[in-house]
Amino acid sequence: MEVQDYLRIVQSRWRIIALATIVGLLAALAASLVATPMYQASSRLFVSTASGASVNEAYQGNLFSQQRVASYTKLATGADVLQDAIDSRGLDLTPSDLNGRVKATPVPDTVLFDISVLDAKPELARDLADAIAAQLVVKIEGLEAPAAGVEPVARATVVEAAKTPTSAVSPNTKRNVALGFVVGLLAGIALAILRDRLDNTVKSRETLDELAGVGLVGTVPFDKDREAKAAIAFHDGYSGSAEAFRELRTNLQFLEVDNPPRVLAITSSLPGEGKTTTAINLSLAIAEAGYSVALVDADLRRPRVAKYLDLIGSVGLSTVLAGQADLDDVLQSSSYPNVSVLASGPLPPNPSELLGSTHAEKLIADLRERFDFVVIDASPLLPVTDAAVLAVKVDGALVVVKHGQTKKEQVTRAVGNLRSVGATVLGTILTMTPSKGKGAYEYSYYYDSDAPVQKIESPATQVSPAPLPVQAGKQVQ
Ligand SMILES: Nc1ncnc2c1ncn2[C@@H]1O[C@H](COP(=O)(O)OP(=O)(O)OP(=O)(O)O)[C@@H](O)[C@H]1O
Ligand SMILES: [Mg+2]
Repeated sequence: MEVQDYLRIVQSRWRIIALATIVGLLAALAASLVATPMYQASSRLFVSTASGASVNEAYQGNLFSQQRVASYTKLATGADVLQDAIDSRGLDLTPSDLNGRVKATPVPDTVLFDISVLDAKPELARDLADAIAAQLVVKIEGLEAPAAGVEPVARATVVEAAKTPTSAVSPNTKRNVALGFVVGLLAGIALAILRDRLDNTVKSRETLDELAGVGLVGTVPFDKDREAKAAIAFHDGYSGSAEAFRELRTNLQFLEVDNPPRVLAITSSLPGEGKTTTAINLSLAIAEAGYSVALVDADLRRPRVAKYLDLIGSVGLSTVLAGQADLDDVLQSSSYPNVSVLASGPLPPNPSELLGSTHAEKLIADLRERFDFVVIDASPLLPVTDAAVLAVKVDGALVVVKHGQTKKEQVTRAVGNLRSVGATVLGTILTMTPSKGKGAYEYSYYYDSDAPVQKIESPATQVSPAPLPVQAGKQVQ
């Protein structure tokens, strides 16, 4: 991974990093607040040896004392001395209770050493430090003067008695919080990288192009307004969503230039990727350029076109395919100019059979005759075969992929399903892309900035319909 990859991860997953940092910080703060304050008291001892009067002897004596200090510090924390100290104060403790709380530390380059005791009670810490020092002095005397009346070769003297500590040495709240912050931050970054590695959803145009083997023809930004109303208000001022569909409309011109597709099936791998919303708005965008569009709801499992456009859904495609009505009887004009809608009709028990029938072929041919474009909202490809069956009867399929949701292998399988039946995969549409932040910019353009992109002007400035692919010889009003 390169530095840019790490930066991208930090930028796109900053929430998880921030959360882990806050958790680390709060955990450290909480631990510090609930921890019992501990006090430390120390007494200092001096080690002397019986040395001669000459400088050389004094030097030798000093060295000897320093070596003695090393042994005395070990003795100080030994069970014998601790037990003596406990007994001398009549405390209800055992040496193991003091485990890790008693330390004997030499003062470097001197013949001094400190005995320190850590305890929740400052007075007890002081008493223990003094008691251990006193008992150690006695112990050393016994060891260094084995026979009675013999002058000991070395002795320790308490030179500084322990004082009652006034402030606790632990917990160190500032240090703990700083540590919690750092640990939380690092854990957050590690978690973000891990999540990124485990994320096998489609998030970039490059990945999608590679998986599908066809180009991305459009990206649709996430727009919370779609929840309330699927159709975009194309004429209602500037809208990023409307612009995205205009770009999609423009990009369709570049598909199969010799034989431009006019009957398009909109499908996807799974339910809920935005097929219906895309089909509706693509129809509106094409109609905006002055072309007549038939929007057909061929999702005979979960039809939504009629619901999203407030039309009648009880008659439509399945009624015509079952021979119960003519196209003219069930084709509805929508509240949008140039857009006619063929709703789903009642849900049939055998959708794929109906969609694969010659009736369906004839119906599509009829619609092709009457309209400049036919946009067909189909079912998802992975759960059912309906869309694949239908896709072979149209000019080509556009595969909708939901940003950050559709898994890479699902795209591969969906496109594979279409290709295996001989359907033309025209391109992919990435939906619900992040509309804010850096990710948004990434999806704004589908072609190199050097490449000329033919733009269709918005209706406000548009003088005549934009040149969309139309059948040779067909006159468009
Ligand atoms: N660009 C968008 N921004 C925000 N929400 C969106 C967008 N497109 C679609 N949605 C929402 O996503 C949900 C699914 O959308 P839609 O019904 O179009 O998907 P679908 O693929 O047709 O689903 P199904 O497979 O059930 O037919 C809806 O709640 C819709 O409002
Ligand atoms: Mg749908």
